[in-house]
Parts: sequence; structure tokens; C-alpha cells
Amino acid sequence: PSIRRFAVAVDGPAGSGKSSVSRAAARELGFDYQDTGAAYRALAWLAAQRGVDVDLEDAVIGLLDDFDYEIGLDPDDYFVRVGRDTVTEAIRDPAVSAIVSRVARIPRVREHLTDIFRGRIAQGDRPGIITEGRDITTIVAPDAPVRVLLTASEAARQARRAAELGGDTSGSVGQQLSARDAQDLRVVDFMNAAEGVTTLDSTDLDFEQTVAALVALIRGVPPAG
Ligand code: DC
Repeated sequence: PSIRRFAVAVDGPAGSGKSSVSRAAARELGFDYQDTGAAYRALAWLAAQRGVDVDLEDAVIGLLDDFDYEIGLDPDDYFVRVGRDTVTEAIRDPAVSAIVSRVARIPRVREHLTDIFRGRIAQGDRPGIITEGRDITTIVAPDAPVRVLLTASEAARQARRAAELGGDTSGSVGQQLSARDAQDLRVVDFMNAAEGVTTLDSTDLDFEQTVAALVALIRGVPPAG
């Protein structure tokens, strides 16, 4: 158990496509895929479920005692479970998105989840794991041999997220995204690459090209073209 498996850290803002890109790259490489945002969302979902006001830090911290969650690491079998509930879709609900930043800003919550993320990175059957979030390259896995900041212009991110949500171009989706990023940026800087972190700008790349670029970075081969 002294040999750690290959760790890849991917950070980026909401709508950068980092979840779908990371999952596809993991699939291609035979790696695990760890979605850390889903853990923050799962805790926010539980708070809402229990009627806990997320602005009461101690009440949210109290939820950690019996916060039994599981996130599927197999890129072909992604699910999120809290207790006996499968919440894969429920944690994407706008009501959860609206409160998750306030859950994620609590230091004790971050420490608790960071410990769990690190445990998943260290151990597993697959030869590697791609972990994706906001503070993976800097806090969760600063020693990962491959660390990537996935960016895209604001316009590209809003267009992609709107397409994901069925073509809603009303602007409200974009506003919610920007508002959430602004709140999240007070806690961790995921817009600027830390030292040693490679920036992958997907503004002018399609999905397949972005996945190929990430896989190439992981394989240590410069992307063709
Ligand atoms: O990636 P996402 O939208 O599912 O993330 C949900 C929230 O969790 C987001 O508002 C920021 C927070 N988050 C975080 O603070 N640190 C992480 N490593 C991942 C997510």
C-alpha cells in the first residue's frame, strides 16, 4: 500500500465542462472519476431535507456526524447516495445550487470532506483517479503529478450550461452561474492557475478536443495539431 495510484487534479469554474470532460478522460484511461462538488451538493441537499438553515454554521457542522454519502467513482456508473436516498438528480436542483456555496464556505465542512476526498485518491482498484472540483490542485491534492485548471470564456461557459439545461438562453442561468462563482471565489481561487498548474482553455475546443487535450496532458504527450 505504499505505492499511491496516479492522481490527476482538475479545477475550474461552473460551466467549464470539467465534470463531463474529466469523466470522459477517466473512462478513456481506465481511471476512477471523483466529483467533489457532488459531495458539497449532497450535504446541501441533506441540510434542506432536514430543514437546517445553512447560515447556521454549527447546525451544518452537526450534520457531518451522520453524513453517510457515497459517490460512484466508476465513470460508467455515476451516482450519488445520501443515507438510503439516491440523490443523483436531486442535488442538481436549483434549490440545492442556490445554497451549496453557503455550505461549502464553512471551514470545518471543507476539512471533513477534504479528508474523505484524499482517502479516495489514495486507495482504489483502478490505476489512477481524476478528481475534479475547485480546490483540488491547491488544497486537496497539491502533490498530484498532473494538475490542470480547465477554463473557458464566460460567454462559452454560459452557452454550454444553457445548452445542458435544454436551451434556456433567457440569461437567468448565466446570472446564477456568475453569482455562484463570485460567492465560491471568496473561498478558493479557481480562476487563476497556481504555480505548476497547467491551464487548459477550452473556449475554442469542442468536447472531444478538450477530452483529448486532457488525456494528452495525463499521458505526458503534447496534444497533436
Ligand atoms: O462543481 P459543482 O457546481 O457541482 O460544485 C458545487 C459547489 O461546491 C460549488 O458552488 C462550489 C463548491 N465546491 C467547492 O467549494 N470545492 C470543491 N472542491 C468542489 C465544489
